[in-house]
Amino acid sequence: MPDAIAYGGDWNPEQWPEETWGQDVALMREAGVNRVSVGIFSWSLLEPAEGVFDFAALDRAMDLLAANGIKANLATPTASPPPWFGDAYPHALPVDADGRRLAHGSRQGFCPSSPIYREKALRIAEQVGLRYRDHPALAMWHIHNEYGCHNARCYCDTSAAAFRAWLRSHYATLDALNEAWGTAFWSQRYGEWAQILPPRATPSLPNPGQQLDFRRFSSDALVELYIAERDLLKQLAPDVPATTNLMAGAHWDMDCWAFAAEMDVVSTDHYLIGARPEPHIDLAFAADYARSLNGGRPWLLMEHSTSAVNWQPRNRAKAPGELRRNSMSHLARGADGIMFFQWRASRAGAEKWHSAMLPHAGTNTKIWREVTALGAELAGLAGVAGSTVHADVAILVDHSSVWAQDHPAQPSSEMDPVEEAKRWHAALWRAGITCDLAHPEGDLTGYRLVLVPALYLVSDSGAANLAAFVRRGGVALVGPYSGIVDEHDRVRLGGYPGAWRDLLGVTVEEFFPLDGPIELASGWSGSVWSEVAHATGAKVLDTYVTGEPAWTRNEWGDGFAHYLTTRLDDGALAEVLAAVTAEAGASPAAEAPAGVEVVRRSHADGRSYLFAINHTGEDAVVTPRGGGPVTVAAGDVRVIPA
Ligand code: GAL
Repeated sequence: MPDAIAYGGDWNPEQWPEETWGQDVALMREAGVNRVSVGIFSWSLLEPAEGVFDFAALDRAMDLLAANGIKANLATPTASPPPWFGDAYPHALPVDADGRRLAHGSRQGFCPSSPIYREKALRIAEQVGLRYRDHPALAMWHIHNEYGCHNARCYCDTSAAAFRAWLRSHYATLDALNEAWGTAFWSQRYGEWAQILPPRATPSLPNPGQQLDFRRFSSDALVELYIAERDLLKQLAPDVPATTNLMAGAHWDMDCWAFAAEMDVVSTDHYLIGARPEPHIDLAFAADYARSLNGGRPWLLMEHSTSAVNWQPRNRAKAPGELRRNSMSHLARGADGIMFFQWRASRAGAEKWHSAMLPHAGTNTKIWREVTALGAELAGLAGVAGSTVHADVAILVDHSSVWAQDHPAQPSSEMDPVEEAKRWHAALWRAGITCDLAHPEGDLTGYRLVLVPALYLVSDSGAANLAAFVRRGGVALVGPYSGIVDEHDRVRLGGYPGAWRDLLGVTVEEFFPLDGPIELASGWSGSVWSEVAHATGAKVLDTYVTGEPAWTRNEWGDGFAHYLTTRLDDGALAEVLAAVTAEAGASPAAEAPAGVEVVRRSHADGRSYLFAINHTGEDAVVTPRGGGPVTVAAGDVRVIPA
């Protein structure tokens, strides 16, 4: 069991003259930093020319950390091949859907299917592994960095060949592929494997099955690269944990479930999106996702920001106290490590306007004071490490479904599955109810309520999984345009939603996308979407004013399955969620006023911590279940042990 919360950030000593390093570690100690990520973008330093290695500087940096009792997530530097790589192997640079080959000079400049990239990446990873596997500063391997952040899909000829190999291993015969992709439509039938291409720019709409499989293939290609590096490092150092930082909740190109299954501990990065009205709720979604990806066990926040980032149109600096509230939300939701990009703000380079733990202006700053205060506070919360978060509610999310719905020809382009999942999650956040995210085929035992806000695509086994959950006594709430297609994006016939008609006791004959609000008999309203549905067994709980069902509830085995045929407005959604959470017996961690986040972390022996985070400008009173009222001052955080 860990005895401390990891605290720190990316330390990039290669950006600075060595005289700075001593000051770095002294300030790290002052700030309570016990963990840094090192070497992420150091390939061109470690291998300045092909096959020429120089580890002297990294040796000194690692030794300095060890001497100061600071541990390292040591990276393999494979996220940024040096210029010599692009220069020597231009065919290994990525190509976009329009056929443009991208140049080196940024980062992630490689085709994920390139054999030469893989060879060079494994060689430098091996060198790092051999050299540092027994180093006293080593805590874990940080493999690569944010796989697929910039090169998630490559459309070059090498990728095309790898895509065909992937398709062969999945379909075995061309007949099966033609059937799955529906290639009879628009005369797309393939007569030879060699005719199949990545979905490059075409005159009109791409084939949906081709597009979906290409997304799956592209994600798998990156997972394979991760596995190759991990296996190599595991051979060299079987006991050193391995991770890579996901972008859970923010970036949907890589299948997080597939990556997570290969990690010793899930780590992720999260950045506030300034344009969101309540970015701290988006943060909670990402944190809940990371915890769920790690099977409920404590996870690591590998990166977030102390203040502004540099990649949004307007980069808002954090208000006083926001850094602490953000960090404590991650901690509350199961993180055992709170880390930042990056330790010292860069003087030059593409991210020089990104905030850091140590800002350009130095230590007499709001950021530095908050960074050191947080370090001290986390040291005092060491007892939280290893505790877990229990959730009665799960929201189903699946990357394949998001990818399939991304095809441009949809009944309404306004049905956004990610935003809908986040909107339902936000409604629960406001109700103080902690929820997990779950894969449709994942283990649903242990939940009382399963929400399906927007799962356009579901496999047969995913469909059966939800039905079995309800049969055993669970409660489900399914949103519109869910359970519509099979795993190849082919319509499930006979009335929508084909996957769950029986479970829901409803059949839908036609979709009616909306360009304005729609009124319900209850007085609630919906928007974007409506359906002509018929109850075939379900009880109708609400209708449109025209009389067709808008909200239904079906008894199924020992449980209940609810269905919504419109995208309910926020207020109505909150009321429906209140009804189903009450029906399922899911309750909040504490009574708290609006804008106050409450989450409980517990140890197996019963010790627990209630986190109460006041995101408002008013003092608030929080009442834990079975406890007395506690005041949480405006903008403050209280951690209440029990
Ligand atoms: C992450 C990345 C970091 C840094 C950061 C800036 O995506 O891993 O290297 O670029 O964003 O916000």
